[in-house]
Amino acid sequence: MDLRMDLRDHDGNLDAHHEDVSPGTGSLPPRAWYATSDAPALSLNGTWRFRLSPTADAEDDAFTAGHHDSEAWDEITVPGHWVLQGHGAPQYTNQLYPFPVDPPRVPTENPTGDHLRVFGLPADWPGTGTAVLRFDGVESCARVWLNGTELGDFKGSRLAHEFDVGALLRPEGNVLAVRVHQWSAGSYLEDQDQWWLPGIFRDVTLLHRPEGCAGDHFVHASYDHRAGTGTLRVDANVQGRVTVAELGIDVATGEEVTVPVEPWTAETPKLYDGVLATAGERVPLRIGFRTVALEGGLIKVNGRPVLFRGVNRHEFHPETGRALDLDTMRADVLLMKRHNINAVRTSHYPPHPAFLDLCDEYGLWVVDECDLETHGFQAVGWRGNPVDDDRWTPALLDRAARMVERDKNHPSVIMWSLGNECGTGRGLTAMAEWIRARDRSRLLHYEGDSSCADTDVYSRMYADHAEVERIGRGEDEGPGRRRELPFLLCEYGHAMGNGPGGLSEYQRLFETYDRLQGGFIWEWIDHGIAHPTYGYAYGGDFGEELHDGNFVCDGLLFPDRTPSPGLVEYKKVIEPVRIDGDGRDGTVLLTNLHDFADLTHLAFTWSYEVDGVSVADGALPVPATGPGERAEVKLPPAPARGGDAETRWTVRAVLADDTAWAARGHVVAWAQLVDEAGRTEPVPPGGLAPVRESGRILLGPAVFDARGTLLSLGNLEISDLRLDVWRAPTDNDNGMPWRPETPPAAQWRALGLHRMQHRVDDVELTENALTVRTRVAPAASDLGLRVAYRWRSDGSRLLLTLRVEPEGKWQVPLPRVGIRFGLPGASGPVRWFGGGPGEAYPDTGAASLVGVWESDVDALQTPYVRPQENGARPGLRWAEIGGLRIDSGDGPAFTARRWTTEQLDAARHRTDLTPGDTVWVNLDIGRHGIGSGSCGPGVLPHHQLHARPATLHVAFSTAVTRGNGAASH
Ligand code: GAL
Repeated sequence: MDLRMDLRDHDGNLDAHHEDVSPGTGSLPPRAWYATSDAPALSLNGTWRFRLSPTADAEDDAFTAGHHDSEAWDEITVPGHWVLQGHGAPQYTNQLYPFPVDPPRVPTENPTGDHLRVFGLPADWPGTGTAVLRFDGVESCARVWLNGTELGDFKGSRLAHEFDVGALLRPEGNVLAVRVHQWSAGSYLEDQDQWWLPGIFRDVTLLHRPEGCAGDHFVHASYDHRAGTGTLRVDANVQGRVTVAELGIDVATGEEVTVPVEPWTAETPKLYDGVLATAGERVPLRIGFRTVALEGGLIKVNGRPVLFRGVNRHEFHPETGRALDLDTMRADVLLMKRHNINAVRTSHYPPHPAFLDLCDEYGLWVVDECDLETHGFQAVGWRGNPVDDDRWTPALLDRAARMVERDKNHPSVIMWSLGNECGTGRGLTAMAEWIRARDRSRLLHYEGDSSCADTDVYSRMYADHAEVERIGRGEDEGPGRRRELPFLLCEYGHAMGNGPGGLSEYQRLFETYDRLQGGFIWEWIDHGIAHPTYGYAYGGDFGEELHDGNFVCDGLLFPDRTPSPGLVEYKKVIEPVRIDGDGRDGTVLLTNLHDFADLTHLAFTWSYEVDGVSVADGALPVPATGPGERAEVKLPPAPARGGDAETRWTVRAVLADDTAWAARGHVVAWAQLVDEAGRTEPVPPGGLAPVRESGRILLGPAVFDARGTLLSLGNLEISDLRLDVWRAPTDNDNGMPWRPETPPAAQWRALGLHRMQHRVDDVELTENALTVRTRVAPAASDLGLRVAYRWRSDGSRLLLTLRVEPEGKWQVPLPRVGIRFGLPGASGPVRWFGGGPGEAYPDTGAASLVGVWESDVDALQTPYVRPQENGARPGLRWAEIGGLRIDSGDGPAFTARRWTTEQLDAARHRTDLTPGDTVWVNLDIGRHGIGSGSCGPGVLPHHQLHARPATLHVAFSTAVTRGNGAASH
């Protein structure tokens, strides 16, 4: 059936290629992608001529022949998106199509970019053979002409398309013309949660194809873990020889050979260099031997089950969108490896193929996902869903084939994913059948079909801990087949803004139940677009009429690829060696959580810290410990004991040698083991008597106003010290707009926790204390908090005992309970003894290391793209800031910023925050956790903060003399 003809009849427009459901015409069958061979190639990346039209047919195609005067056109960089190069604007929607759902029709307003490039062939371009023109990615639909001849058209934005152009090439003055439509029928298949970014965003290359060239080839390289052998067979559609010098292999294509090898795994990514030589071409092969199988209900590689410590990676760069250069791809891989990540789901499309080369080389498990999402049909009850409409099946099969054929020779790819969030339908089954018939050596993934009819894994997104545990125990209900399958969270831990919380609890489940084979954090990087006014722009910042705001900024990396605290936390949670033990008796218990590697690539060290400062360190010899094994080792005798000091061991596992992805000494895992808990200096009983004088109250070095509000300490001004319960809601506090339940932030605002009133009930001066009693409560509610501030002084220090008693039936958790105050004019470094160096909240604190730290107020801020609560350092023992010394035995969380919580709450972008003269400090005795409620479960019960009686002890002084040493780590 000629699908295109049908649709031409339908809309009567003979040229409407872009609105036809077929994948396109004219391109060559898909084949394995490789970067280089000895056949010449000419990159056509660079500066092209460009003209943007508002509709698909605004201009004729005279430009395609080159007689057209394109000198007046603009210039554009290819690869690139025109909306990021001054033509039009990006748009962001999550699930919804930004156009009416009327498949396969698209709006008349259909930005269309005509791209033109004139090129000559290099002098040494061979006169024989032929040539193909390869497009690695064009969004969303392209029509291509060379020297005035139409080569064809294609859809499938993140897939390669090749055209045979040999006969059309001339030595000079070749005119390559590409017309790109932003919207096409293909857009219905590409409704991923990301910016809509049209353009030729991946490489354009002219590849010489010599006579007798290699054509397509399929490297089959399996590993028999029992025999320790690899079996290699390279199937090719052209006769040739396959050599692997290191293994002494020299066989014909199609011939199978078995030899002893080192297997490929993500932990030990051994690649063998080989060559496929045909009559006309030598193609380099990078061979990794490994066998993927579903066995006994588990995903096994080389006979062992694997645990995915994964991330979902969209391709993104804040300036160039989805046009990524090799350095950026490498930066992603290095950052992943350095943060203990071992797996990537290429959400939600095949990445630039060079990224997969890097995964092979550095070692990452890859779930390669097809460029397919039809999520927007959910909004119309899935009516007309292309994956359940046979007319679209050729397009789906084309996408499946283009992914599999392009990427089939990557050992890192161990699973094919049919796509994301497409509902269910026959088209998906057709894809699965095609893939299984073509490649039996990998497993199949698709999350959207709860029957798991077409898949080898039971995959879910955002399931909460309790459900994951039930699944781990095999207590889940559901279709029989599904209950037999291993379980993956293809998305969890929504890394939007501050968070995600609750990762440690997930990891514990993954490590407890065999069936749970790990998961993939959503997602790798914030898609904030560099913007002159906003810093980073998100949905709505380009005037989109329909958008999903900052839901596009939900990554473990900030847009500039700086790791967010979420990534630091994830690295700690998934570390591949668990270090445990008893610091008091000097025992260290090590569990090797690698799936394949022993611990010989790591060196273990200890350091002994007294009050957060290292006083001794050394090496910790560890015996050979295989994957899954445990070892017990002894620390040396404690170097310094006794006294009141808090002492602890910090044990680290570091790289023993340089690796491809990090230098020797890079910390992979660590733990702190307490030796002696230390003793906080007891608050002396008694103290000075407060006195009233000239309308003020004096107590030792402190001055209060008549109502008992602290004004100064020595010559330090202190403002507005009082109870604080509010925080600038995080994205996780704000929850999911599409869910019926009321998220915490909405409950807090409804109750008025952001506008608490403080009523002073009593100011009492006794012989050794000033006690101020207040009631803190929101208007229009009878709920309240009774607060008593009991101030004492020993002459140099000012001691506060704060007591909080809730009144009434509080049904809403509190954001925080503590004090806040201002330090007008404060500047200089901030030093503290407590958790650091980064922020930590009750359920995001795994990576917090107890020590003495130094920073400054600006550096204490975590620059979330949409400003929100951030920056708290937990477990404070002491801090020095702006001339003030704070001591507490209660380990409050410490936050300091140059704006108020209210200003932070009101800000939409980083650039809305302007530092004021006052540094605002919070000391919290209680904090509500973070959770992952921006898409997924909220705060686990044990991390919620409920109104209950609370006490905080703090000693303030101005003497900055008691801090010990410099930053300890
Ligand atoms: C999932 C989806 C992702 C992303 C995420 C929320 O449902 O697969 O693409 O939208 O939610 O950020």
